[in-house]
Amino acid sequence: MSSSPTRKMVVTSALPYANGDIHLGHLVEYLQTDFWVRFQKMRGNRCLYVCADDTHGTPIMVRARKEGITPEELIARSYGQHTRDFTGFEIAFDNYYSTNSPENKAFSTQIFASMEKSGAVSALKVPQLYCERDTMFLPDRFVKGTCPKCGAPNQYGDSCDACGQTYPAEELKDAHCAMCGQAPVTRESEHLYFELEPFHDFLKELIPQLTATDVANKLLEWFNEPLRGWCISRDAPYFGFEIPGHPQKFFYVWVDAPIGYLASLKNWCEKNGESFEAWWQSDETERYHFIGKDIVRFHCLFWPAMLHAADFKLPTQVFVHGFLTVNGEKMSKSKGTFIKAETYLKFLKAQDLRFYYACKLNGTTDDLDLNLDDFMGRVNSDLVGKITNLASRGAQMLHKNLEGRMGRMDAEGEAIWKAALARSETIAACYEARDFAKVMVEVRNLADAANQYFDSQAPWKLVKTDPEAARQVLTSILNIFRALNIYLSPILPSYSAKVAALFGEEPYIWADLEKRIEDRAVAKYEYLATRIEKQAIDQMIEAGKESLPEPPKPAKPAVEPVKETIDYDTFAKADLRVATVLSAEAVEGSDKLIRVMLDIGEAKPRQVFAGIRKAYDPATLVGRQVVMVANLAPRKMRFGISEGMILAAGNPDGSLFVVTPDTGAQSGATVR
Ligand code: MSP
Ligand code: ZN
Repeated sequence: MSSSPTRKMVVTSALPYANGDIHLGHLVEYLQTDFWVRFQKMRGNRCLYVCADDTHGTPIMVRARKEGITPEELIARSYGQHTRDFTGFEIAFDNYYSTNSPENKAFSTQIFASMEKSGAVSALKVPQLYCERDTMFLPDRFVKGTCPKCGAPNQYGDSCDACGQTYPAEELKDAHCAMCGQAPVTRESEHLYFELEPFHDFLKELIPQLTATDVANKLLEWFNEPLRGWCISRDAPYFGFEIPGHPQKFFYVWVDAPIGYLASLKNWCEKNGESFEAWWQSDETERYHFIGKDIVRFHCLFWPAMLHAADFKLPTQVFVHGFLTVNGEKMSKSKGTFIKAETYLKFLKAQDLRFYYACKLNGTTDDLDLNLDDFMGRVNSDLVGKITNLASRGAQMLHKNLEGRMGRMDAEGEAIWKAALARSETIAACYEARDFAKVMVEVRNLADAANQYFDSQAPWKLVKTDPEAARQVLTSILNIFRALNIYLSPILPSYSAKVAALFGEEPYIWADLEKRIEDRAVAKYEYLATRIEKQAIDQMIEAGKESLPEPPKPAKPAVEPVKETIDYDTFAKADLRVATVLSAEAVEGSDKLIRVMLDIGEAKPRQVFAGIRKAYDPATLVGRQVVMVANLAPRKMRFGISEGMILAAGNPDGSLFVVTPDTGAQSGATVR
């Protein structure tokens, strides 16, 4: 057994949002962290698993408003539900706290002060959509409208589900507030930015050490250019911490969320009479974050830069995992595969999911599929059939025919037992590397060997001819099973506790592998695991459907409805002219704009930025006649002033067609 000195480790999982229920996707993360932490503890390391609810931000505020309760009431309710679900899945945090805590406020204040002092915080006026009815600035997800790229209706303010493009919320057409439906107005507001460029070299060097190569390489793609600043403030009303020295401005939730790791640790230290500095700020400790691949930039860019600016120790590693699919597809509310932790536990056992996830988790960023047939098969054939059967048959036979007493191991059985122990450090290394799937392969192989031995010895026959020989065989089987169970303890903690009770022992640690159990009584066998019935899975899926009906998605974007009628005079106000394209070029830094110079018979050509790059190669436009709105107020854009607009037809699927007059029209001719 390894005699490496005791390590001190702080381990975190990402803090779940307080406005949502825990579902099987979340559990991919919390379970693997729990496996790893339990393993570290069994190895004798001092390891703290801290987490918290992520309580701040607009969605929580809005949800509370909608329910007519305060955000504090909402987050208190979620806290109860989340901790109930985590307990149900045997996830053992050392501390589960809240980001809405005094410790978090204090750390946020301290860290922000250092960020400001470092000179990396700057203020910038930016336009933003504001809903006058809801009296709040609207985050992208709270604005809906028609996609400016493809014309699909009912899309969010940041990206379109139909065409997958992203855009600034101000570009949405027919933008409306997602809560009340009213069109938002644009308001200027001053915001604080945390500049990342001062940390360019620091981060570039850090990232490859911080995380897996594939994750690091993706992040490093951004480092060929100056890093963009990160907006860290939000306007009131906002549920969060007001920024000291900046009245009516609040920390963006992603500022105080990771600081919540420190706050939870600090809270644990206070409750346990230990020093926060000795845990976080020491060179002797290790700090690990488990996160999903969707939140990498927060943990590998912003967070280390914040910590660095404030002289806090950096994470030792950020472990990134992939996303859960169910039956090979994204979790879906309509298919009933968006399964809440609570729903699962009504029909199935936590240890079955723990077992299955362990079989599938290999420490990479690959997505993980919960195939429900495979899930049932693995639990029934491996956990119940191969592994648990050793104990149930062994212990029950011993009770039935041999007074429930173990003897000594026979030579062959002892050899198999020793071979199982010989895998100890290999298995430990798999755990350390978070390759739980490999742990399971090892355990399964050992279980196969044990079952072969069991069947070849046929103790159920032997007991009639040579009971003492049968006792030896069963003693070997139970010792082998005990070793397998120790290997599985981080994954199946309550199962393992029952096994310890069966043999009259204390909950296992890794070093218990060295002990053998002989010449002793075995307690009455109690069920450790039972088969999954297909019916339970079907019922769970049905229940998932009921609790979460999903609005049907429009199959194909529809043609925009015709707008309200206007009188002729209103129409005539638009001065439409035939224009000839003198030149056209792609605009650098924009993937949608073409800069066209148009002749409409005036002394100077007009410059127009047209959003048709997706549909046209600029060269093919030169010499063409188009129709332009000549009296549209000039608009200042990032690239220059646009002095009008050219007309184009847009199909619902997003394809674009420039409008051209029939041959013979002259530049500058009026279009009616
Ligand atoms: N509140 C932030 C994290 C702040 S950490 C300082 C957040 N919360 S979350 O509830 O959306 O997600 C919590 C964790 O669960 C994240 O690491 C996320 O990647 C993970 N998962 C959420 N859904 C998931 C799947 N469907 N599959 C796998 N992991 C998923 O992000
Ligand atoms: Zn509104």
